[in-house]
Amino acid sequence: MSTTWAYPRLIAHRGGGHFAPENTLAAMRCGLNYGFDMVEFDAKLSKDNVLILLHDDDIKRTSNGKGLAAKKTYAELLAFDMGQWHSAFYTGEPIPKLESIIRFTQENNIICNVEIKPCPGREKITGKLVAEAVSSWFKNAEILPLLSSFSAEALEAAYKAAPELPRAYLCEQYDDNAKQILKKLDCVAVNPRESTLTEKIIKTIHKDGYRICAWTVNDYQRAKQLLAWGCDAIFTDELERVPASMA
Ligand code: G3P
Ligand code: MG
Repeated sequence: MSTTWAYPRLIAHRGGGHFAPENTLAAMRCGLNYGFDMVEFDAKLSKDNVLILLHDDDIKRTSNGKGLAAKKTYAELLAFDMGQWHSAFYTGEPIPKLESIIRFTQENNIICNVEIKPCPGREKITGKLVAEAVSSWFKNAEILPLLSSFSAEALEAAYKAAPELPRAYLCEQYDDNAKQILKKLDCVAVNPRESTLTEKIIKTIHKDGYRICAWTVNDYQRAKQLLAWGCDAIFTDELERVPASMA
């Protein structure tokens, strides 16, 4: 896929990294307030196929409730507090719809990386619905969101539904399996675990024609090193220690 790479080098992970409850509107505001102009977040489906933001399959870690998101309707999910687990300040933060988050980023000129994070068994439908929705919200947009996923199945469904949206394959490391998927799904970037990257591997990936977004870099020196080696972007939770202004 030949797309101009228009993305910033620093990406606020899950919206506000460690500084706000992940994958909420408050997190996106936090990333914005810290000067980040690109945010990453995780999208999946509720039981009734509403696109929501949530990292885990279960809401337990990031809410005051418990249970699988795939078994709860959006209305049921709205009853839970997604902010209090982080700190009292964020009490009352609701689970957001993908649509509201996208609207916020558009209103504030922030670029998105939508990570497709399907609940097990819902890979195809999640990839398809995320891509269709994002495509419809970004008609004629100058900069398209980057779609990414660890699930090749979800990414393939996204590719079929909206081939114009740039794709990145998330993986542990750049190996033969990743190469095969990147090629098959016509990806623009590979997003490997940061600790697997060396200067040599970065050169190889670039020679193979892909951009690189490394997850997740919370140490300033390591971030500096990866950027100096030519890593195209890094995700960070440490919005102060690894500031947007460093690139
Ligand atoms: O997309 C980068 C990073 O978010 C991937 O890992 O588990 O934090 O979604 P995870
Ligand atoms: Mg993620």
